[in-house]
Amino acid sequence: SDITLIGVPLEEGSGRGGCAMGPAALRIAGISQAMIDLGYIVEDRGDLRPAPATDLEELPKAKKLPVVAAFTRAIEQETYSAVARGSVPVLLGGDHSLSMGSVSGMARHAQEVGRPLFVLWLDAHSDFNAPETSPSGNIHGMPVAFFCGRAEFAPILPSNRPLVDPRHVYQVGIRSVDDEERRAIRENAVNVFDMRAIDEEGIGAILRRVLNDVRQANALLHVSLDVDFLDPDVAPGVGTTVPGGATFREAHLIMELLHDSGLVSSLDLVELNPFLDDRGRSARIMVDLAASLFGKHILDRPTRAA
Ligand code: ARG
Ligand code: MN
Ligand code: MN
Ligand code: MN
Repeated sequence: SDITLIGVPLEEGSGRGGCAMGPAALRIAGISQAMIDLGYIVEDRGDLRPAPATDLEELPKAKKLPVVAAFTRAIEQETYSAVARGSVPVLLGGDHSLSMGSVSGMARHAQEVGRPLFVLWLDAHSDFNAPETSPSGNIHGMPVAFFCGRAEFAPILPSNRPLVDPRHVYQVGIRSVDDEERRAIRENAVNVFDMRAIDEEGIGAILRRVLNDVRQANALLHVSLDVDFLDPDVAPGVGTTVPGGATFREAHLIMELLHDSGLVSSLDLVELNPFLDDRGRSARIMVDLAASLFGKHILDRPTRAA
């Protein structure tokens, strides 16, 4: 298949209930049909349901670690298998801790094909905490530090696994960073385009810079889209809303530029909390954005394989 949907009913990384219903809501909003309508062959692998890991203990500063770790292992394997057979993995979240697995699986594939992996992180948050720096202990605030090897708090994946260079992480939409997290993203030279950068430079100029770097490096590109990247007025169905987010059009322009680039290898759709949503609005917007990324156009132009 061209696209592999992987359902991840994971909410334990977020510290509240609701994200486990995310995959169901994205399916009801028509994620699969949207891609079929664009001409792709889509395989929906259903939902991952791993039993909690028995080799890891609960940590007070990394809540629900056995559950998150079991998902990380299963997601890493599913994502790797999908991309290794030539398909584009699309993760249906589930909270953002799922990216520990999806990005690690993509990093394994990138290493095998001898190319770097770049990550475009569309989020209000940097998600660069480690248990020592996290104010909440919620693992969904830690995935970027984890796949960059800066939060090795437990043997979740093999210690020799391929990591992402933090200088290959591009964060866009950022407007909520914890104090110690701020120092960590600076010391690790993560590329951060905060909301002010979007206001001043425009999202188109920023995306073109990112895509140019990806192209120059002949890299694979993983895109991770957190619902809270969007302004809460646009997408209220998320537990960690922060005012002053991206508009509907800014988000769509990113997706359209990503499609035109032909550079995207994999996608996470995360943090959708249907319990907090307004009659399915946020679920539908996430599906619409994914469709734009895969080539849905306002005008009739030919669809190009991703
Ligand atoms: N920085 C906060 C924390 O570490 C919030 C993280 C929110 N992350 C997310 N993926 N929504 O708890
Ligand atoms: Mn996030
Ligand atoms: Mn967020
Ligand atoms: Mn296009």
